[in-house]
Amino acid sequence: MQRLCHQHVCGLLFLLSFSAQGQTAPTPTPTPDTTKAIMERIRENIEVLLPLSSNRAAFTDPAKKSEIMAALKALADSSAVLQVHGQDQNRSFRYFSRSLARDVNEAFSRFQEGKLDQSQYLVAHLSDDCIACHTRLSKSGSNAGEKLFPRIDVSTISLHEKAKLLTALHQTSLALQTFETLLSSSIEDLKKAGIDNVLHEYLVLIIRQQFDLQRAEKTLKAFVKRDGIPIHVQHNVEHWPESISFLKKGPTPTNSIG
Ligand code: HEC
Repeated sequence: MQRLCHQHVCGLLFLLSFSAQGQTAPTPTPTPDTTKAIMERIRENIEVLLPLSSNRAAFTDPAKKSEIMAALKALADSSAVLQVHGQDQNRSFRYFSRSLARDVNEAFSRFQEGKLDQSQYLVAHLSDDCIACHTRLSKSGSNAGEKLFPRIDVSTISLHEKAKLLTALHQTSLALQTFETLLSSSIEDLKKAGIDNVLHEYLVLIIRQQFDLQRAEKTLKAFVKRDGIPIHVQHNVEHWPESISFLKKGPTPTNSIG
């Protein structure tokens, strides 16, 4: 019986000590979750993740795993906060904050499941969510990429990674310049980057996005004249300038064959 009582008293003391602590502990001043404060946290993590996402070897490097995991976790937390914060905002804000949170969670889950390639792809495209919302809702406007990511250090990464990162950040004119520098750099560097990839990424950007056929034709003409291009690439590319001049001539050809 004594023992039982003792237990009760203990339990009570335990409870009391808890509530007493609750009363005396200094209440932490809550940092107001303004959009700006959330954004700063988001930016810190995205600045770690984006450069890594433009380099497959870095993104899948086991030595980087805990850093990437921590940044993705923190980004998932901040995006969730942004989404909750978005409940009181207008429809566009709600829409874009929801899609950011969804994409971040997807990238995080894929990473946890070890599907690193998929995670890398998703992370590399997160900047689309930032830019989509910023072009509509913040004053940064059309050069949102430049405004949002001024601190990303592109000086330490390869030309190809830099070109891809700039593409992801919608800094199209810098991205094109970088691709063109890469296409006139040493064949060894180009082979390392994967010539087919480089050409494909460059053409998507310049033709599909910019529709600057003249510039594409000029770059390709200079490129096919280079020595040392692997035969299969040479074979693929040599007719492209011709096809482009055909495109330039006028109305898009119909699909009918011969
Ligand atoms: C749902 C819309 C939305 C999304 C998504 C969004 N932002 Fe923002 N962001 C804003 C708004 C609105 C502001 C302006 C806040 C203010 O000044 O009060 C802002 C401000 C910022 C700022 C402060 C600098 C500035 O331009 O005022 C940074 C940095 C930033 N965002 C980074 C990002 C990054 C990086 C992402 C993507 C990972 C992102 N944002 C996604 C809406 C968004």
